[in-house]
Amino acid sequence: MTAGKANQVAAIVLLALLSTITTLALPLIGGGFVAELEKGGGAVTTAALWMVAVGLAAAITGTLSGYLLARLGIDLVTKLRVRTLRHALGLPLKIARREGTGDLAARLTSDSSQIRGLTEVGPLQLPMAALQVVATLIIMGVLDWILLLMTVGSFLIAIIGVVFVIKAIRQKFEALQTGVGKLSDDFVATLEALTVVKAHRAESRLAKSFSERAQNLGGLESAAARLEAMVVPVMTLAQQVALVIVIMGGGVRYVSGDISLPNLVSFLLLLLQLAAPLIMAIQATGAIQAGLVAKQRFESVFSLPYEQVDDGAEDREPVAVDPAAPAVVLHEVGFAYEEGQPVLEDVGFTVPSSGLTAMVGRSGAGKTTVLGLIERFMELDSGRISVFGRELPEWPLSDLRGRIAYVDQSFTLLRDTIRNNLLLGLDRTVPDDVLLDVLEQVGLRDEIAALPQGLDTRIGGESDLSGGQRQRLALAGVLLSDARLVLLDEPSSQLDSLNEGRLREVVDRLAEDRAVLVVAHRLSTVQHARHVILLDRGKVQAQGTHERLMSECEPYAELVRGQMLRPVDSVRLS
Ligand SMILES: Nc1ncnc2c1ncn2[C@@H]1O[C@H](COP(=O)(O)OP(=O)(O)O)[C@@H](O)[C@H]1O
Ligand SMILES: [Mg+2]
Repeated sequence: MTAGKANQVAAIVLLALLSTITTLALPLIGGGFVAELEKGGGAVTTAALWMVAVGLAAAITGTLSGYLLARLGIDLVTKLRVRTLRHALGLPLKIARREGTGDLAARLTSDSSQIRGLTEVGPLQLPMAALQVVATLIIMGVLDWILLLMTVGSFLIAIIGVVFVIKAIRQKFEALQTGVGKLSDDFVATLEALTVVKAHRAESRLAKSFSERAQNLGGLESAAARLEAMVVPVMTLAQQVALVIVIMGGGVRYVSGDISLPNLVSFLLLLLQLAAPLIMAIQATGAIQAGLVAKQRFESVFSLPYEQVDDGAEDREPVAVDPAAPAVVLHEVGFAYEEGQPVLEDVGFTVPSSGLTAMVGRSGAGKTTVLGLIERFMELDSGRISVFGRELPEWPLSDLRGRIAYVDQSFTLLRDTIRNNLLLGLDRTVPDDVLLDVLEQVGLRDEIAALPQGLDTRIGGESDLSGGQRQRLALAGVLLSDARLVLLDEPSSQLDSLNEGRLREVVDRLAEDRAVLVVAHRLSTVQHARHVILLDRGKVQAQGTHERLMSECEPYAELVRGQMLRPVDSVRLS
């Protein structure tokens, strides 16, 4: 805890104490007021003024401590949110997918609001309320211990019942928080696939299944609310019972002269004041239960493994590499997503430090997996991969990824402006004419200039680019990057023949001085490649030049003839 925070906590404790003391003083002054009246009251106005002053002080200190406490809670929630954001972005891919985006995001919404209950009521409100209860009881005991016993007796039964209620509330909350996270996770995923939903007219079917889940959660919530609703009436009832007993018992004791009238009045006022902190303490305990559940959910995120992409990378000397080393060497690589179901077996090939290398193979052969392993999105099960002469585990992750430009097969772009998407991963500023120049190279310059806000148009929201445009934008980003190794996953899958021609020029230019490993879809790409690798069911079936493979490898020739590698003019997409 920082010094500032410690001071803040001290101030809150002090203010809350003052507020408690003033609240307790009020009934005693009230008793004094009655005593003055009995005496025929010369100093009546003084007592009344005191009551007003003390009442005001109680209100002011209560307000201040409440506000400071709320601020402390908000600080804590903000910290948890920030830590969650950072941790979630640093999760290894596999774990982020397993946890679910929507469920991770629920930490920022529903879990955050639950934890405020914990921070605000937990550390102070509960002890303060308890303190007030104890102090009230002590003063009551001093005034008349027999009446105190009567009071405690009437409250005790109610309190025992309420403890069981709180336990039940916690269980409901656990189920509720987990359910809300899972629901929002599935809902987010469904919204992302909205075109598929609409094309299959699945809206009402999905709406039905989601509403059933929402209704189930509503059921849990109302069960918890039912339990919560019992707390106040039960306590109020206990107070009323106590009041009746104390008035009767107190009346008897007053008549017999065992208690004075001012003391009886003070006692009754204290009794009226007892229920509020008791209820507060009980409700605080309930809120703490919900907060504890939320806290557990935050901790479960922080306990997940975190990829060390070390933030201080800019201050370090970049990793030295051997300029003569090949860009990538795979040696007997084996990998499985699920244990016992190998996706790659004994894969070996070399990507030279410059020039075009093409990887081909049927869908599901493992091409995307190979690229993911080079980026170290996943860890190898067996074998070795080295990049620019260094094995993957020797690379600081940020240096490794800094040297690789990667365009994934769905050419994912961020929900941001075109400019920011282009500049992603660059730590230098780039003037607009350079941006426009790379856009020109991929044939996007005019299309982007025609957009309402040009380079500053946000994509991914309501305005979007076509598949082919996104693909070309991703390529423009590669042209801007300084990466010496370029990984392209089916870069021409969405391009028409004109843009396919442009792409080939761009790739050729990139390959002049960089290593380009491309998952190829088109005959034209493999014809240009220096080296072609044919992947089949997770194994390298053959590798060599296109011409050699055509004459020596029948499955490859079949692939080409079967238009798996389509000649340029057979498709028109984009
Ligand atoms: N995240 C994943 N989890 C489990 N299996 C996967 C995952 N990604 C791909 N696979 C499986 O791995 C195999 C290879 O996939 P992939 O590398 O994407 O093939 P390609 O890019 O050649 O079409 C396929 O059988 C696919 O079902
Ligand atoms: Mg693929």
